[in-house]
Amino acid sequence: MNCPGNALALVRDAARVVVFTGAGVSAESGLDTYRNDESGLWERIDPEAMASIDAWRRDPEPMWSWYLWRAHLARAAEPNAGHRAVAEWGRLRTVTVVTQNIDDLHERAGSEDVVHLHGSLFEFRCTECAIPFEVDGFPAVREPRMTPPACPRCGAVVRPGVVWFGEALPAAEWERAADAMAGADLVVIVGTSGVVQPAASLPLLAVQAAVPVLEITPAPTELTRFTDVSWSTTAARGLPLLVDAVRPRGIS
Ligand code: APR
Repeated sequence: MNCPGNALALVRDAARVVVFTGAGVSAESGLDTYRNDESGLWERIDPEAMASIDAWRRDPEPMWSWYLWRAHLARAAEPNAGHRAVAEWGRLRTVTVVTQNIDDLHERAGSEDVVHLHGSLFEFRCTECAIPFEVDGFPAVREPRMTPPACPRCGAVVRPGVVWFGEALPAAEWERAADAMAGADLVVIVGTSGVVQPAASLPLLAVQAAVPVLEITPAPTELTRFTDVSWSTTAARGLPLLVDAVRPRGIS
């Protein structure tokens, strides 16, 4: 398979690139996406029950054990060729990764400028005084419920550092992502269905700023109609071919 000519044309001279990713970029690392027809996480789990601030306030214990177990799964996964290609691209050009993902596979692949719009499985904080909290070790088995720890400073309950339905995105990350989108000379969308707002509106800032948008996706998404090129392939197949086009000749 080759990189389509229209994608090559967008990539070759791009100096300031934003790679906007969702769960699909980690699918080839073995981590679940959310909305794939049969295998999506939300086909098996009710997001209102396990990924909303209201559910946490009602009963934090099932969520606490679920997020610790998901942290174990993410830590046990390895970055795939797509993550590694984005990291290599970041050594050849200015690349900002704006991700909706809460895993750390972009960082573990070597990407240095990563903006997490929805937080991280590996960050925890006090629900009251917001001081960071370290969790050592994650369970390899999903317990039905576990008691979250108490903050050592104020005694309030500690929570996962992820953004749940019903919560605002972190303002600093939003600003960084919005600035990067408007100031890019190429935006590459990989692995997102583009259905969750406000994150999915970020690439539209690039469209409004006449920044070319290239999508890599195995199936059309809510963002496809806004893209200049939508390449029907997967993250681990398509991203390495894009970076091949950027790598200086003679280096491989
Ligand atoms: N390569 C590229 N894309 C893929 C691959 C792959 N190997 N496998 C699946 N995809 C695509 C799917 O076709 C789909 O369009 O990745 C997309 C995943 O979409 P979602 O499961 O909806 O995940 P995402 O868009 O990241 O969800 C956004 O929703 O539940 C919230 O907070 C959660 O951050 C998440 C947000």
